[in-house]
Amino acid sequence: MDKVLQHGRTTVLEHSVKVAYLSLAIARKYKLKVNYKSLIRGALLHDYFLYNRKDNTHEGFHAFTHGKTAVNNAKKDYEINKIEEDIILRHMFPLTITPPKYKESWIVCLADTLSATKEFALGGKEKIFTIFNRIKEVQ
Ligand SMILES: [Fe+2]
Ligand SMILES: [Fe+2]
Repeated sequence: MDKVLQHGRTTVLEHSVKVAYLSLAIARKYKLKVNYKSLIRGALLHDYFLYNRKDNTHEGFHAFTHGKTAVNNAKKDYEINKIEEDIILRHMFPLTITPPKYKESWIVCLADTLSATKEFALGGKEKIFTIFNRIKEVQ
């Protein structure tokens, strides 16, 4: 997870830790009665797809298929419960049609969207600065 880039220049590991932290913060802020252990485990494993998206060696369109791939990988490497499975499988809702079943899954879905949006935005900003710096060097 530490070797694969997820959004912009953020690795899957960094992204997953951020999503777990944000999920925990959301649950605490709104004093939600959730299974904290499953919330964190599910958040840490939600993108456990373990391939480089740019390799194009995986089947299907990443956004629609990586939840299923991540669940299969998580089941191979860990014992996960129903909540954790649902968190991983449903985190791309509404891109994937079936909605999350548990509060924990909804929280991770929200935290993932917020984190991914921020990472994309920061990645884009860095690219723009890189382009500006290169233009300055050329001038
Ligand atoms: Fe994902
Ligand atoms: Fe994610």
